[in-house]
Amino acid sequence: MKKIEAIIRPSKLEEVKEAMKKTNISGITISQVMGCGKQHGWSENYDESEELINILSKIEIKMIIDDDKLEEVIELITSIARTGEIGDGKIFVTDISDCIRIRTGERGEIAL
Ligand SMILES: Nc1ncnc2c1ncn2[C@@H]1O[C@H](COP(=O)(O)OP(=O)(O)OP(=O)(O)O)[C@@H](O)[C@H]1O
Ligand SMILES: [Mg+2]
Repeated sequence: MKKIEAIIRPSKLEEVKEAMKKTNISGITISQVMGCGKQHGWSENYDESEELINILSKIEIKMIIDDDKLEEVIELITSIARTGEIGDGKIFVTDISDCIRIRTGERGEIAL
């Protein structure tokens, strides 16, 4: 199992949600987050000597998925969330060792 944490522009959320509906994922967690990347939140006329950090609103999408869905999901999110401008976001991938469905006690991929 893999965990995908995708940080995207809020304006891309609806489209990503629609696409996820079609790929048969088991579950999704969405959070409103704040953050900045390499440019410290400054987009136009980025000045490396700027000392202030500008924290921007972003959306974080968290999903635990089967290993064999990983590339498909990455491809999907990337293709929707990419504008080509700085600040398009990032996708972090982590190995997940277990999952427990609390209602039934099922474990592993069947519990996703
Ligand atoms: N290394 C990181 N660790 C944690 N969160 C990050 C990291 N890099 C980016 N983020 C999160 O992703 C959001 C978007 O980052 P962003 O797309 O600006 O990354 P970047 O590396 O600066 O790429 P780009 O040059 O395309 O802007 C940030 O606001 C922050 O929430
Ligand atoms: Mg950036």
